[in-house]
Amino acid sequence: MTFRLPPYPYDRLAGLAKVAGAHEGGMVDCSIGTPYDPPLPAAVQALASSNTERGYPASAGSPQLRQAAAAWLTRRFGLADVAPSAVAACVGTKELVASVPHVLRLREPARDTVLYPAVSYPTYAMGAELAGCRAVPVPAAPGRLGGLDLGTIDPADAARALVLWSNSPSNPTGGLGDLGAEATWGRAHGVPVFSDECYAEFTWDGPPRSVLQHGSDGVVAVHSLSKRSNLAGVRVGFYAGDPELVEFLRAVRQHAGLMVPGPAQAAGVAALSDDAHVEAQRARYRERLAYLAGVLGAYGCPVALPEGGFYLWVPVPSDRWPDAWVMAEALATDGGLLVSPGDLYGDDGAGDVRVAVVQPMDRLALVGERLARVRHG
Ligand SMILES: Cc1ncc(COP(=O)(O)O)c(C=O)c1O
Repeated sequence: MTFRLPPYPYDRLAGLAKVAGAHEGGMVDCSIGTPYDPPLPAAVQALASSNTERGYPASAGSPQLRQAAAAWLTRRFGLADVAPSAVAACVGTKELVASVPHVLRLREPARDTVLYPAVSYPTYAMGAELAGCRAVPVPAAPGRLGGLDLGTIDPADAARALVLWSNSPSNPTGGLGDLGAEATWGRAHGVPVFSDECYAEFTWDGPPRSVLQHGSDGVVAVHSLSKRSNLAGVRVGFYAGDPELVEFLRAVRQHAGLMVPGPAQAAGVAALSDDAHVEAQRARYRERLAYLAGVLGAYGCPVALPEGGFYLWVPVPSDRWPDAWVMAEALATDGGLLVSPGDLYGDDGAGDVRVAVVQPMDRLALVGERLARVRHG
């Protein structure tokens, strides 16, 4: 059977964007989690001054980048000591997420299953499909927005699993998971646990957490500079953890020619060496989350603040709209606000919409004014 790609999730929003864009003052795009705030000036300067253009960059990452990433992991998560050799670079983390099943299948050809959070970033399931594997969703525990209800995993699926994906704080729900329990489950079942921690810096409920706080055996933490440092356009990420898994991924990826450009690696070093810009970004997101939650509440769509991340996961008030698409259309019509209907993140997300608070306060205030003019009874 020929492989058929589904439509790209955000391409489905074109109709809603047209509606939102009809407002005077234009659309306020909170649909995609792409940063709009400026990166650290030193990171931008490093792009132009690294003198790395003429030669091929190291696929694993330069010694400086691996060292900076290891030092950041140690500092941020209070880890004993992370060896730079247990860290390697990726070209932003999306390509890693999409390719992990394919790479791990080379290591364990008899396994063919990817376990991933039922409501999640779509690339976990897409990575399974691109590798010809089964994508098996794992729900959150009842009443929880984050984490995985590990007890619901069928032992037959566990026996076939190449990887268990975890994402805490979660995109889209903002929930946190129990990384220790997930690491323990993975070790007990011989399944590598890949923990996508790209929103770790934006943890609101307690300190940032990493799966590596529970040992590195059988686990890999995945990190990105896209969100932490507003460098999504530069494409720098890294993964760290179990030395054998990291080395296998590193070696396959080197053969495949995956390399972060040298100037981008230099920008990554500058960004990872500074924490003050992340503090400033945290303050921006907190202010916007609180403001927009208030605006939506006043518009009749109450929403709890997330435990982490920069998304509001807003339940569809079922007495007003039949589903997330109709609610998204109302927000586009009334507020010029573009949001993502929750089924873009899995069928179980169909009862919510996701609002990425990436736009500056003056744009969000425009949404506030527009929605305040609309009365709902
Ligand atoms: C949960 C999650 N993982 C990974 C990524 C990929 O980020 P990047 O490829 O920019 O590192 C995203 C981007 O939105 C994300 O939300």
